[in-house]
Amino acid sequence: MPAAATSALVTAAHTCGNGVAAFNVITLEHAEAVVTAAETTGLPVILQVSENAVKFHAGRVEPVLAGAAAIARDAVVPVALHLDHVTDEELLRAGVSAGVSSVMFDGSALPYEDNVRTTARITEWAHPLGVWVEAELGEVGGKDGAHAPGARTDPAEAAAFVAATRVDALAVAVGSSHAMTERTARLDLELVARLRDAVDVPLVLHGSSGVPDDELRRAVTAGMCKINIGTALNLAYTASVRDHLTADPALVDPRRYLSPARDAMAATAAHLLRVLSA
Ligand code: G3H
Ligand code: ZN
Repeated sequence: MPAAATSALVTAAHTCGNGVAAFNVITLEHAEAVVTAAETTGLPVILQVSENAVKFHAGRVEPVLAGAAAIARDAVVPVALHLDHVTDEELLRAGVSAGVSSVMFDGSALPYEDNVRTTARITEWAHPLGVWVEAELGEVGGKDGAHAPGARTDPAEAAAFVAATRVDALAVAVGSSHAMTERTARLDLELVARLRDAVDVPLVLHGSSGVPDDELRRAVTAGMCKINIGTALNLAYTASVRDHLTADPALVDPRRYLSPARDAMAATAAHLLRVLSA
């Protein structure tokens, strides 16, 4: 089926009070694993490519998006393509030209007024093109190694930000942190509910790999909608590669250790998809 639009998947989840998973794609194997998991569970999914992943691919967004798009098109469940954590406006344009239906502009490190001004300019550019825009308010910690789980988004500021920028979804800081390898995060669920009541757009949880299953469920019930997951896949992938290379140091053909690594990512993604749809 043709690639789905992020707006359709998130709106459907938002309307029903459900969560929709958005998994980070770094390699082709990530995209294959996530779509296998979506097909196994019969659930829609978002494939997202971050600015950091694009940097890993020598700054070229087209090859990784073309691979993800081909896999999305062949899927028997709805799969949407999204560009994640973008600070470079040139990359936003390149991603939209390459076929994403949605982008996240990450101005969270900017002073509030600059974040508002820049995000508003981006929605003005994106909306006439039919592109759905996510932005972030209240920096979710953990990117580039610095954990700052204490950051919180203020509901009144969130409402003012959404009104001023006309964004379609808002990433909020509620206690999660990026790149956690232990699932020990505890979320401020009372704040999630206050944010849900304060803004009428879907809320996005970043750094979801560090959030335990039961807390992810509670977060969705409290009002989180798009659930961004990256590190959990990389943990599964790398542990599998490490095990296989350790068990057989003579291994050379990457297919011998990347096949089980891709299976491990698919199992992790399927588990999380089921958690979010429970
Ligand atoms: O935007 C991507 C997510 O926030 C991923 O975070 O790698 O901690 O799961 P994570
Ligand atoms: Zn994130």
